[in-house]
Amino acid sequence: MDRRCKTTIETLEKLRGESLQAGGPKKIEDQHRRGKLSARERIDLLLDDGSFEEFDVLKTGRGDAFGESRTYPGDGVVTGHGAIDGREVFIFSQDFTIVGGSLGEAHAQKICKVMDLAVRVGAPIIGINDSGGARIQEGVDALAAYGEIFHRNVRASGVVPQISCIMGPCAGGAVYSPSITDFVFMVEESSYMFVTGPSVVKTVTHQEITAEKLGGADVHCTKSGVAHFVAPNDILCLREIRRLINYLPSNNKQKPPMLDLRDPPDRTDPALDYLIPENPNQTYDMNVLIYSMLDGAEFMEVQSAFARNIICGFGRLGGQTIGLVANQPSILAGVLDNDASFKAGRFVRFCDAFNIPLVALVDVPGFMPGPDQEHGGIIRHGAKLLYAFTEATVPRISVILRKAYGGAYLVMNSKHIHCDVNYAWPTAEIAVMGPKGAAEVVFKKEIQSASDQDAALNEKMNKYREAFANPFLAAKRGYIDDVIFPRDTRHRLIRTLQVLEGKEVKGPYRKHGNIPL
Ligand code: HXC
Repeated sequence: MDRRCKTTIETLEKLRGESLQAGGPKKIEDQHRRGKLSARERIDLLLDDGSFEEFDVLKTGRGDAFGESRTYPGDGVVTGHGAIDGREVFIFSQDFTIVGGSLGEAHAQKICKVMDLAVRVGAPIIGINDSGGARIQEGVDALAAYGEIFHRNVRASGVVPQISCIMGPCAGGAVYSPSITDFVFMVEESSYMFVTGPSVVKTVTHQEITAEKLGGADVHCTKSGVAHFVAPNDILCLREIRRLINYLPSNNKQKPPMLDLRDPPDRTDPALDYLIPENPNQTYDMNVLIYSMLDGAEFMEVQSAFARNIICGFGRLGGQTIGLVANQPSILAGVLDNDASFKAGRFVRFCDAFNIPLVALVDVPGFMPGPDQEHGGIIRHGAKLLYAFTEATVPRISVILRKAYGGAYLVMNSKHIHCDVNYAWPTAEIAVMGPKGAAEVVFKKEIQSASDQDAALNEKMNKYREAFANPFLAAKRGYIDDVIFPRDTRHRLIRTLQVLEGKEVKGPYRKHGNIPL
């Protein structure tokens, strides 16, 4: 090798070496002490072994607004692409060991480059966030850089899946990039998201609160609905992201990958014939049906701790990914409230954008009554779910297990908002409202004038139940495609998904609809 060539290679090795050292051993040790992995360790765990190809390893910023010429190796973020179970994804991983992973101009340009490529080639983009936010020394350039990322998040929405993983601080306007993406993962006790941190909260409202209580994983997974998945540590969190990717197509033109879990499609479960209790007021766990019918009893629940009265998540039927939306009778009797409507509405829209067929399992007594819900906007939140199901053009199937009352029945992917195929179990009750409410309205005078009002109410409720609280009236009208044996649910759904495979719907031209946000 001649001397010039040797020197150039040595220079490249030196520059690469500097970048690979990140913020140095002490900073990496600090990161580990807090239970956090480094940016590169996270990438290594997320991607298939040896598949990571890095971009912009030599890129640095151009100094800062204080006139200092100081630059940082890789500018605090590692970017590139690699594979998850053999399928390509693009990735950026912020490096907290370099100026706190703060986002400056060059840092953002690296992120934007992989986002642009992800959209161009049609592959998911995964962002690992661990950052002190806008790099203060870069002033307005840092804010402009955030704007470029937000712009790309919005343009990529519905084109390629976007996944955010919060593995450290995420504060200020920086939270808006993850919140635009499709799924947000958080790690217990080492990640937080808020628009204004505890010190500003104290100054403005005189309230003392810790970062964890203000915007930790628990808050966002149970109360705010900002996050979709939580894991106890970085390792398990990254494993869950790999699992999620396996259910999803790489872009909006593809179908999700098929995966044969060797579960016979015609497997029946006779125990399901006894799932619905005789007493209509008694609850049961919808998960019994979900885990029984899905391939290999595998289900990836989304937002499992938020609005638990509705269950959303991914599973497979006959190898094909489905998006499942199910009322949960064991929580608040499965009513639809504000949070449940928002949660399911957003999930349905994701599935529709990415060609994932929707299956609704219905046991819904109605919308939650009361001033809290009304004043909180149950009308517009409920409308979100109605809108989302109605506009979805992917194959849509419903199974009504028990209660299907009033507006909530219509909203839950009913025939009347054009689901493709719907089934009812023999225990289904499809009516305007529940027997008690209905009897009190329709037979009000007779009940009030009866000597024994309770007995009169019971008698009228029974009369109503016989006439309306069954699936047969709806089946006679053709509003139900078939009343099926519960034990056959899996088989019937798989056959229906097969027949709907070629579904195509074309609507009138429009720029976009106006969902009640
Ligand atoms: C420049 C930053 C930085 C930032 C952290 N650092 N945040 N440098 N700009 N925003 C640097 C620190 O100076 C330090 O550098 C190193 O990162 C590690 O930070 P520490 O404070 O030592 O770490 P820790 O104690 O763990 O605290 C982490 C932290 C804290 C909670 C994130 O650094 C912090 O509060 N930073 C400011 C957060 C913030 O207010 N950001 C702006 C949010 S508003 P050295 O050299 O000592 O290692 C925003 C607007 C976005 O982002 C708008 C989008 C539209």
